[in-house]
Parts: sequence; structure tokens; C-alpha cells
Amino acid sequence: MAELNRTMTAEVTPGKFITLEGGEGAGKSTQMRLLAERLEKHDIDVVCTREPGGTPGAEVVRLLLKSGALEPLGPFTETLMISAARDDHLNEVIRPALSDGKWVICDRFADSTRAYQGTASGVGPEIINALERIVVGKDQPDLTLLLDIPLETGMARANKRAQDDGEDVKDRFEKQTSEFHEKLHNAFHELADKNPDRIVIVDADHQQHTVANTIWKIVQSRLMA
Ligand code: TMP
Repeated sequence: MAELNRTMTAEVTPGKFITLEGGEGAGKSTQMRLLAERLEKHDIDVVCTREPGGTPGAEVVRLLLKSGALEPLGPFTETLMISAARDDHLNEVIRPALSDGKWVICDRFADSTRAYQGTASGVGPEIINALERIVVGKDQPDLTLLLDIPLETGMARANKRAQDDGEDVKDRFEKQTSEFHEKLHNAFHELADKNPDRIVIVDADHQQHTVANTIWKIVQSRLMA
């Protein structure tokens, strides 16, 4: 049944699929909301979602991942769990919305697996490619916005957000070394270099409304022209 869904929706996707990527504290969730508001003003139905997560089962995987509970199992198992969560999310939320002509904006997607579990944690590209082929197939994003900010700014923002949320401990990835975060940063840039038709780097080291205006211009020229 899942296979059938994949085939059907891969051929009929009237909606657009946008993903937001970047390191910690890049402002993805704020920009997702601002972009959705603008699209809705143009009478476009928008579904905002996130990964890992977006369905009850996938949100459980998110909790396990962010709490560090998966860490003892190693990055390979982490990749399998994230892929399972992605499969559920695609089948239950993303593909049905796209088939209905809605636009889907997703806070993180498969590029994060390549950066976090692949480049930064050492899971080989052959494994990541195989899982992506099985789970995502042809349903790649139409556009990926890579929100780029200096490492220190991102970490400072992520720390502040955690404090504002009343969290006194950093999550699994926030507590990683600056070397890990530098690897992530480089991994996202390499992905952008390799996929210029899909990934656009957005300088996110500006006021929220400035970044939102930049994103809106990109979305208009790439998906609405
Ligand atoms: P965030 O949405 O607040 O950034 O939290 C999601 C965390 O999950 C973030 O630290 C990155 C991590 N993550 C992965 O490690 N691999 C993935 O494939 C995805 C989608 C997220």
C-alpha cells in the first residue's frame, strides 16, 4: 500500500514542497511561519510541518532523538529511526497534502540526515542514499532554503531559546562540540553546491523581516514565476 502511494503521488503532485534547513538557531521555525502567512495571503493552502516529527509516531522518534535516548544505539540506528519517522510523515501528511494541491513547508528534511547523521556522525553515503531512495523516492523538495548564520550566532540563539523555554539542559545536538557544528555547517554548504537547482543559501544573519523578504523573493522567482 505504501508502495502504491509512493507511485501515485510521485506522478501527481500539484502542490509544492519546500524545506528549510540549517544549523541550530538559524530561525527556521519563525521563517516557516512568516512564509506560510505570505503564501496564504495569495490564497495558497499551506501545511507547516517538521522533521523528525509531523505525525504522532514520528513525534515519538523526535523525542527519543532530541533527548539523547537513541545515542547509545549509534548513528546508524539513529538514521534508521529517522528514516522510519520520515516514511510515516511522507505517507500520512506530506504526500496527501501535495496531492490535494497544498503547499508543504517542512522544518528540516533529508538534507539534515545527510548533514547530522552522514557527514557529522559518520554514517556512509551509500546507506543514506539507499534509505533516501526507498523512503523519499521521487518526492524530493521542489525548493530547499538553507538558512545560513555564523556558528557562534546560531549557538547563542539556540541557547537563548532553550533558556526562554525553561530548558536547563541542552538537547542531544545542541550540546555537541563546536567541531561537530562546523562539520554540519560545511556539510550543508557542500549539499548546496551539489544541488544548485534545489537548494538556495539564504543569509539569515539579519532581522527576521529582512530574511523573510529575501525568502519571499526566492519563492516567487523559483516557484511562482
Ligand atoms: P530542531 O527542529 O529544533 O532543529 O530539532 C531537530 C533536531 O533533530 C536537530 O538537532 C537536528 C536533528 N535532526 C537530525 O539529526 N537528523 C535529521 O534527519 C533531522 C530531520 C533532524
